[in-house]
Amino acid sequence: MSLRFSAFVITLGLATTALAHTEATGIVKERMDGMVVLSKSMKAVIAETQSATPNAAAIKDAARAMQDHAGDTMTARFPEGSLDHPSEASEAIWKDWDRFAMLAQQLELKAKGLEMAAGNPVTNKPVQSRDNFMLMDFATMGPDEVFSLIGQNCKACHTDFRVKKK
Ligand code: HEC
Repeated sequence: MSLRFSAFVITLGLATTALAHTEATGIVKERMDGMVVLSKSMKAVIAETQSATPNAAAIKDAARAMQDHAGDTMTARFPEGSLDHPSEASEAIWKDWDRFAMLAQQLELKAKGLEMAAGNPVTNKPVQSRDNFMLMDFATMGPDEVFSLIGQNCKACHTDFRVKKK
């Protein structure tokens, strides 16, 4: 496992989610399932961008899978007060709904951007996140740059709106 890959896995807590998840039901389970699709897709993308021969079609597939679980689909899975055990959602979601929804929309936009950038060469350049990207901004980026922006998106939302429960 490369350093960047393991850092990503740790940041998103991908290794430790399974236990809580098995007890979930209803809408909480539904959104956890969606999040798991997101993390599997991210793993697929990083595997490609670190490969000597990145497969653009595989990156596109993962980008589309992420679109399916972002934006309005994601926010619809967070009805007010849905905090049933073992949810790790924070009450802050409904106190700061605009920012929460903005991050979900940004994720959809960036996943569309990743689909556009899938066939571009990997650049290995760092890229700075901001809140006002437009779709065309992604067209000339490396898929690894868009991947990194998406990772920052996941992290921003988890930092503000997900609480780690024991
Ligand atoms: C708009 C906010 C938001 C964005 C964007 C977001 N997440 Fe989440 N994520 C959450 C919240 C809130 C939870 C906790 C949900 C719960 O437990 O009810 C969560 C939980 C998770 C979980 C744990 C699921 C489980 O089985 O318990 C994983 C894995 C995850 N997210 C991965 C990702 C990845 C990867 C991305 C980016 C591609 C991402 N998330 C983007 C808000 C977000």
